[in-house]
Amino acid sequence: MRELSQHILDLLENGLEAGANRVSLEIVEDTARALLTIVVTDNGRGMDPQTLDNVVDPFFTTRTTRHVGLGIPLVKAAAQRCDGNLHIVSKVGQGTKVTVEFRRSHIDRAPLGNMESTLMSVLLSRNDCDLVYEHRLDDRSFGFDTAEIREVLGDLPFTHPDIRRWLQEFIREGYQELYHML
Ligand SMILES: Nc1ncnc2c1ncn2[C@@H]1O[C@H](COP(=O)(O)OP(=O)(O)OP(=O)(O)O)[C@@H](O)[C@H]1O
Ligand SMILES: [Mg+2]
Repeated sequence: MRELSQHILDLLENGLEAGANRVSLEIVEDTARALLTIVVTDNGRGMDPQTLDNVVDPFFTTRTTRHVGLGIPLVKAAAQRCDGNLHIVSKVGQGTKVTVEFRRSHIDRAPLGNMESTLMSVLLSRNDCDLVYEHRLDDRSFGFDTAEIREVLGDLPFTHPDIRRWLQEFIREGYQELYHML
């Protein structure tokens, strides 16, 4: 069973591969309604209606290096196993929004997994794409916008060892704070 963070990484990478310069990730955990929702939005090239129809078919991909695209079908299957679903809205030239819902309390719902390494790998992979992140757990939340962080850092890249350490610590502490009552 894949952890949710692996599915999230797939969705974020799709946004990066679509040439987006801004990708946003929203995770909402509502314990009262037992829902966990993941929303990934990008301002990349988008998909036409036919591509969109085919995207949930594992034998469809526009990649030339490999002919099977599995990211979206796997996330969709994981969501459907947990009384949830996956929904995509996309517009050519404007971007894509993927919403995935899970019954949070479902026995088959995979754990969130290592969000620290998922976020770090996106932060370190490209400095020409900003990531807007928000994770809500009932009335608490943790998040950041890399555009704001970059403004403070000036010319220092996220790959600089000190910055990298700082980012890692920032995310780790954010998560500890978010989950401290559970
Ligand atoms: N955010 C997006 N913007 C534009 N096109 C997308 C986006 N997400 C998916 N697609 C299109 O849908 C196809 C299928 O995506 P999917 O994630 O299922 O597989 P993949 O990315 O091709 O391969 P894999 O995820 O297995 O490495 C992609 O090749 C791409 O053409
Ligand atoms: Mg993919």
